[in-house]
Amino acid sequence: MTTTTASPFAIRTKEILDTLAGAGQTKILQTIDSPMDATVTMIDEDGSRHERICMCSNNYLGLANHPAVIEAGIEALRTYGAGTASVRFICGTFTPHHALEKTIATYMGTEAAYTFVSCWNATEALFPTVCEPGDIIISDELNHACIIDAMRLTPVIKKGVKKGIYKHSDMNSAREILEKAKNNPEITGQIWLITDGIFSMEGDIANLPELRILCDQYNALLVVDDSHAHGVLGKTGRGTHEHYGMCAPLASPGSSFASPGLPGEVSRSDGGGLPSSTSPASSQTEGVFAPRPYSPENGTVDIFTGTLGKGLGGGAGGFIAASQQLIDLIIQRGRPTLFSNALPVTVAASANAAIQTLMNEPDRVQRLRDITTYCRQQIKSKTDFEVLDSPTAICPIIVGPTEKAIAMSKQLLEHNIFVIGFGHPVVPEGEARLRIQMSAAHTEAHVDQLVEALKKL
Ligand SMILES: Cc1ncc(COP(=O)(O)O)c(C=O)c1O
Repeated sequence: MTTTTASPFAIRTKEILDTLAGAGQTKILQTIDSPMDATVTMIDEDGSRHERICMCSNNYLGLANHPAVIEAGIEALRTYGAGTASVRFICGTFTPHHALEKTIATYMGTEAAYTFVSCWNATEALFPTVCEPGDIIISDELNHACIIDAMRLTPVIKKGVKKGIYKHSDMNSAREILEKAKNNPEITGQIWLITDGIFSMEGDIANLPELRILCDQYNALLVVDDSHAHGVLGKTGRGTHEHYGMCAPLASPGSSFASPGLPGEVSRSDGGGLPSSTSPASSQTEGVFAPRPYSPENGTVDIFTGTLGKGLGGGAGGFIAASQQLIDLIIQRGRPTLFSNALPVTVAASANAAIQTLMNEPDRVQRLRDITTYCRQQIKSKTDFEVLDSPTAICPIIVGPTEKAIAMSKQLLEHNIFVIGFGHPVVPEGEARLRIQMSAAHTEAHVDQLVEALKKL
């Protein structure tokens, strides 16, 4: 008879999983058996089916189940088959990739764009490719995990790349790190400064105008991960840069694919005329955080990373949007694109249709704004919960301990509301939250149901 001893991996994993279960912190994979929309059909662990209002998806514009987006994917599946069966540079580049990348560049207002299977993938392609020894990447402390991991990865691939972290949205802290970088003899190359456009857990907006000024002062390149801002911020939903008047309007708003606003068309600001507030985001709707009209003096963003899996509704995928030169370098040297298959063509076609739909139906952006405002007002006026303020579609209710957020999320399911509770390690210990995310597909009646359920918690 042979006796087997548990492997070290099995022992420590059991410990981790048991600890999570003991603390009521186990994440349950909730199963959906319908298209993603304002309401979804869920199958619970006991096999029962429930129609619930979904208020935790990134389907900001309600495009995930839009007929044009679905049809484009089906058509591409018929025309190009199921898989690319290749990385882009071998035989994995299809017509829909080019079409989508042109659309993304136009939409973002950059010279060029290049797609990946996710924004995570795009971010991990970006820094290890564009950085060289002697560079430094400077990042907001609350930037998304894909940025954190890309920053960890970069010095492993390119030894000698340094990192700097500034306090969340604190311009004095960002300036301090930039100043230190300037005075550090080991930093001889490029300074990169990266921020989320909208911070996913707080729903607040980066101070792009001031970051632009700082980057100009220190000859740094400004990189923005605008994943949560696509379709959400800016008059026509182009993102955080549009919100701040930092991208040239498209040639004919509404049906706007005629002429992209290229970076070269926007002269870089020396900061003249811009507010010089150095305080963190005290009010997201006033002062430097307020929407502004476009002016070349506002400057622009050098490089974007973004996702096709949130407001842009194509299903999945990510991109880098930047100068043609940077994209050319990514195509030649980016490891995730050289060694990993291309974005599936069906997804590329759906994403293209989603962006076109957004550009042709900009009223969806206003609809999202209106329903989000209604949601915040109703929670504030009719419940005892505090919801964080911001002009974004993310409405977090901070509840404290992780297990409390998870328990509240479970209770909401009983009232047919699907909202996820986020706790440690996604957010700091003690700051667990219910993150309500609104969609243009939601109605006032959906919000009223949410409020009734919150009142019963
Ligand atoms: C700011 C930000 N960047 C990147 C991502 C990842 O996007 P993707 O799902 O395309 O990898 C997310 C998703 O949550 C995000 O919030």
